[in-house]
Order: sequence, then structure tokens, then C-alpha cells
Amino acid sequence: MKKNKVAFITGITGQDGSYLAELLLKKNYIIHGLLRRTSILNIERIQDIINKYEKIGKLNLHYMDLTDTSSISNLIIKYKPHEFYNLASMSHVGISFYTGEATLNINTLATYRILESILKNHKKCKFYQASSSEMFGSTPPPQNEKSSFNPQSPYGISKVSAFHITKYFRQAHGLFASNGILFNHESPRRGLNFVTRKITHSLARILSGHEKKIHLGDISTRRDWGHSKDYVRGIWMILQYKKPEDFVLSTGKNYSIEDFIKKVFKILDLNWKDFVTTNNKNFLRPSEVRSLQGDSSKARKLLKWKPEYDLNALCREMLLNDLKLYGMNLEEAKKIAKKLSKN
Ligand SMILES: NC(=O)c1ccc[n+]([C@@H]2O[C@H](COP(=O)([O-])OP(=O)(O)OC[C@H]3O[C@@H](n4cnc5c(N)ncnc54)[C@H](OP(=O)(O)O)[C@@H]3O)[C@@H](O)[C@H]2O)c1
Repeated sequence: MKKNKVAFITGITGQDGSYLAELLLKKNYIIHGLLRRTSILNIERIQDIINKYEKIGKLNLHYMDLTDTSSISNLIIKYKPHEFYNLASMSHVGISFYTGEATLNINTLATYRILESILKNHKKCKFYQASSSEMFGSTPPPQNEKSSFNPQSPYGISKVSAFHITKYFRQAHGLFASNGILFNHESPRRGLNFVTRKITHSLARILSGHEKKIHLGDISTRRDWGHSKDYVRGIWMILQYKKPEDFVLSTGKNYSIEDFIKKVFKILDLNWKDFVTTNNKNFLRPSEVRSLQGDSSKARKLLKWKPEYDLNALCREMLLNDLKLYGMNLEEAKKIAKKLSKN
């Protein structure tokens, strides 16, 4: 009988980690999710799979700390994973301007710690690094694997360094280490302080009477937004490719934050201008990435990957999920929206 593959996932409690764990469990992997200690147990996104898979030994959770090499090495030595997905990071660009040092420690040095441990202890393990379109920064779109990196934030800088660390372990030491350069991807599981989720979640709060306005920064910036579910499929495909390489995953389309707001408000026939304030200085950044639009033709050709969701479907799924959190279905929300429009 074929043995189950063993995968490690850092960041399993996050948006991508939770979807990736679901995908790999369906593919019959044994998962080891590596968690940091938090004062409140933060496992909401993986509670369903814990209920289903933990007691049968298919999903195993372990505490470790990305700043503590031995906590990572001990697990690698003990469980000898076939694949290691490094998704954990300080993933918020805006917050990285305030926590630059910690961002570099977690996003960059942890990548080095993991790869060095794989090299010393279990060279056969394949490694995936969660690289980001923020690495391109001010390089004009479309951006692909050959575009230059001009990061505009501590987050972007930390990811560029981790990208090169991954490449270094591949080229100098022969590890199967690949980068996925992923453009923005969202879902109902996106953190509440990311702009897309802030928009859908705050709108649900406005309709349920908890908030009056959504306060945003610069809404003219443009991003290439996909759905996390499509992207974790691509992440898995990157590690199944015959050799380690770097791949851009993107939809190839680019919209402004204003476009995103319009699409969400249109679902309820509301005029967004009545509910959104912009250029709020609390949300303006010292330097901004104006426009990201990925060219993922390499992944489409070699991996046969392509996204299934479009932006309209993504906006709708995120809004319906947030309405549900506040006890509303779409019909009820539309009725409330109609009343709010008249006031
Ligand atoms: N989503 C995107 O648009 C996008 C695009 C390109 C690249 N990426 C990268 O892809 C990865 C996954 O993104 P995501 O959207 O799933 O992010 P996310 O929802 O913010 O999840 C981040 C994960 O990292 C964990 N983490 C953060 N700091 C940690 C630390 N010090 N020690 C251990 N774990 C830590 C978090 O744990 P807690 O739950 O305890 O906070 C969480 O599980 C990240 O590396 C991100 O930078 C994301």
C-alpha cells in the first residue's frame, strides 16, 4: 500500500494555511500544523478539520516558535516531512511599517532557520516559500518571474530576502526549494484588517446597526485579486512540479480598491459614497505600491494552473459570509439597504 505523504504547514491557522490543510487532507496527506503560542487559542479557521481529522491522526498540531530553531528542527527530525509549506508570516504590509524588525525576524530569518534545518536534518524534504507580489513594489505592471524587485515596505523587503534565501538553498545546496510569488488573494477567511475583508465586514456591521461608516486610506491603488482557494491549489502544484522553480500566481486582471468597493455595494444597490470615507491619514502609508498585475503565464503553461473565481464571485462570497455572521441573508440585507438609502 502507498504510504501517506506527510506535510508540514506553518501558518496553518491563517487564511491560506487553513485552505491548504483542507486540500491536502482531501488528498490523503498526514498534516502537521505548526502553531505559535497565543494568549487566546486562535484555531477558528481550522476548527472543522480538527474535529474531523485530529482524532484519527491525520491532522496533528504542534507548538513551535519561528524564532526558535530547535523547536522547528526537533519536529523535522521526528516526523521527516515530504513537503514543508512555509506560510507563516507577519503578513500585513501596513503594520510592517511599525514592526519592521519583527517582520524581518519572522518573514526572513525564519525561512533561513527552516531551510538550514532541512539541509542538516532531512535533505529530501521539498520546501515551499510564500513569496509575494509586494516584492515587485514600484516595478510597473505586468510583473512576472523576470521582473525586478523594488519593495516599498519592510514586509516587501522581508519577502525579497526570504525569496533569495530560498533560491540560495536551491542553487548552492541542491534543495527542492520553490517560491510561489502570489498576488493578492482573499476569501471569507481573510483577516479583518485587510482592506477587502474590512469592506465586506464593515458593510455587514453597518446594515446590522453596529457601524455608520467605513474609514479607508488611498482607494486609488490597484491590485490583482484572486481567491485563496484557487491559490492554495497552485501552491500544492508548485511542489508537485518535476523540479524546484519559482512561479507567479495571479489572475492577470487589476482593479482599484474603489472598484472593489463599487462591486460590493452594487450587490445591495447601495451608493458607496454615502458610507465610505477615504484618505483617512491613519491608513496612509509612508510609501505605497501603486499597481500590481501579475503575468502568470509560466504557471499556466507548466503547471496547467488557472484561477476559477473572478472578482465578482469573490466579492459576493465574502459579503454573503459577513452578512451571515450578523444574522442576515441577502434578501434581508437588501431590504435594510433599501431603507438606509431612503434616509
Ligand atoms: N493573502 C495574500 O494576498 C498573500 C499574497 C502573497 C503572499 N502571502 C503570504 O502567504 C502567507 C499566507 O498568507 P495568509 O493570507 O494566509 O496570511 P494570514 O492569514 O495573516 O496568516 C498568517 C499565518 O502566520 C502565522 N504567524 C504570524 N506570525 C507568526 C509567528 N511569529 N510565529 C508563528 N506563526 C506566525 C499566523 O498565526 P496566528 O493565527 O497565530 O496569527 C497565521 O497562521 C503569508 O506568508 C503571506 O505573507 C499572502
